[in-house]
Formats: sequence, C-alpha cells, structure tokens
Amino acid sequence: MTQGPPLVCPPFLRWAGSKRRLLPVLQSFWTAKHKRYIEPFAGSACLFFALNPPKAVLGDLNPELVATYREVKYRLSAVLAELHKIPKNDAAEYKRLRSTAPKEMSASERAARFIYLNRYCFNGIYRTNLLGQFNVPFSGQRCGSFPTDQVFAQCSRRLRDATFVHGDFEKVLEKAVPGDLVYMDPPFAVRARRVFRQYHPSTFTHEDIKRLRGWMEQLAKKRIAFVVSYAESDEADVLKQGFDYQTVSVRRNIAGFVASRTLTNEVIIANC
Ligand SMILES: C[S@@+](CC[C@H](N)C(=O)[O-])C[C@H]1O[C@@H](n2cnc3c(N)ncnc32)[C@H](O)[C@@H]1O
Repeated sequence: MTQGPPLVCPPFLRWAGSKRRLLPVLQSFWTAKHKRYIEPFAGSACLFFALNPPKAVLGDLNPELVATYREVKYRLSAVLAELHKIPKNDAAEYKRLRSTAPKEMSASERAARFIYLNRYCFNGIYRTNLLGQFNVPFSGQRCGSFPTDQVFAQCSRRLRDATFVHGDFEKVLEKAVPGDLVYMDPPFAVRARRVFRQYHPSTFTHEDIKRLRGWMEQLAKKRIAFVVSYAESDEADVLKQGFDYQTVSVRRNIAGFVASRTLTNEVIIANC
C-alpha cells in the first residue's frame, strides 16, 4: 500500500494498490457537471472518500469488503462496539479472528473482523486460499494508527450517499449514465510484471483487460465520463490506445517489500 499526504476524510481500510498518492491528479477529474460517482473496483475507495460526491455506486468482487461497507453505513455503532472489545495490534487476537469463519459471526462481528484483519495484516493485502479463507500473515508494523471512532463516523456519513454492488465490474458499469464519473482502478492482470495474487482467488486476467477495454469504448460511445488508472505495462498499452492519457510517477512497495520500494509509472486514461 502507498501512504500519501493527510486526507480530510481518510479511508478506514488499508488497501494494496490504493491510489492515495494519485489523489491530487484523480480528484481534478470530478467537476460540477458530474452528478454521480461510480467505482466498480472500490477497494478502500480512497477517491470516493476524498471527493464526497452527492451520490455514488461502489462495487467490488470481494464479498467481505462490500458487506463491511454496508455495516459501516447502516450499523456503525454495532461495528464499533465489536471493535472496542478487541485488543489492538495483538498477534494472538489476529490469529484467533483469522481462523474464525465469518459465517459463524453476526454481520457486525464480521465487519469488525474484516477491519481488524485489514488494519494489521501484511501491507493491506487481501488474499484467500482456495477454500476462501483469509490467509495473510500478521504484520503489526507500519500499519498506521487504528482509525478513531471519529474517522469511522465521518466515513459512515459519506457512505450514506452510496449504494453498493457485490460482483464483477460489468454489473456496476451497466448502471452508468451520462452525468456520471466512472473511476476504474482494476488489479494488475496476471500477465503484468511482478504479479502478486493479492486480491482474490479469481485473479484478474488478460481476458478481463479486454473486457474492460470493451467497456471503455462503450462508455465513450455513450458519452459517459471515465478515468482508468493502471501501472505502466503492456496491459496499460491495450487500455490507453486511442484515448487521452497522462503518465504519473508514484512511489510504491512492489509486492509489499520495503526493499523493493521504487518509483513506478502509473498511466491515467480519461475521456473527460
Ligand atoms: C487496485 S484495487 C482498487 C484500489 C482502490 N482504488 C483503492 O483506492 O483502494 C482493485 C480492486 O478490484 C477488485 N476486483 C478484482 N477483480 C474484480 C472484478 N472482476 N470486478 C470487480 N472488482 C474486482 C479487488 O477486490 C480490489 O479491491
């Protein structure tokens, strides 16, 4: 994950691949002509929280993530009550929660579990084994401070203006209409360099890049504004062809290893 300047409304999750460092550039695409914000690869949704749009649709393939957003939106006090019971930054507690099946928990316990594991796992990575069990090791270091109740309350208020979709990005893009701003930040595709299976067993593939490219063309045809960010790579070349783009340098940890912290180029493609 990448750190960035202090934010007015920081996201309450850490997320591998978060675009926090790109926020100054990304925020400039939201203008008065946009009525609704759509993000089909939401992750920690740092751009959504920074923009505070009047209406939004947030989607992601990760069911635990989407369920957590719903809980923080509708039942924040129950989630906070669960979080207050758990000792912070505690390896034994982390392992206990990680080995507890979310299905055996109430919705608010489940959201608290997700947030706790996210805050203290290695580098904000979400990765499951083939049985769908979260298996990222405890880190406890460089995790930042645990969000305060005020940060959760602010995020909860901003989430009031959002609806959520669990599923593939196409399910979200079908909802887009002119007047929306669609921000797409897909995972690295498996053919991209230095791939790390950090999101979900159903990894993003080169076929998904082609589907995304097809959707960018459809959105452009319908005059729906979009922005795509993607690490400079062969896949970025496929996505940017024929569209306006800019290349921005960002400092990030490749696969979470500090020793591999480096400057990488991010391509930002937009039709607005
Ligand atoms: C690079 S992260 C997004 C990071 C986000 N911009 C942020 O600020 O934290 C990509 C996200 O896409 C999700 N994802 C992966 N495949 C997907 C798919 N086919 N449809 C929708 N979401 C998907 C992952 O679960 C992950 O949260």
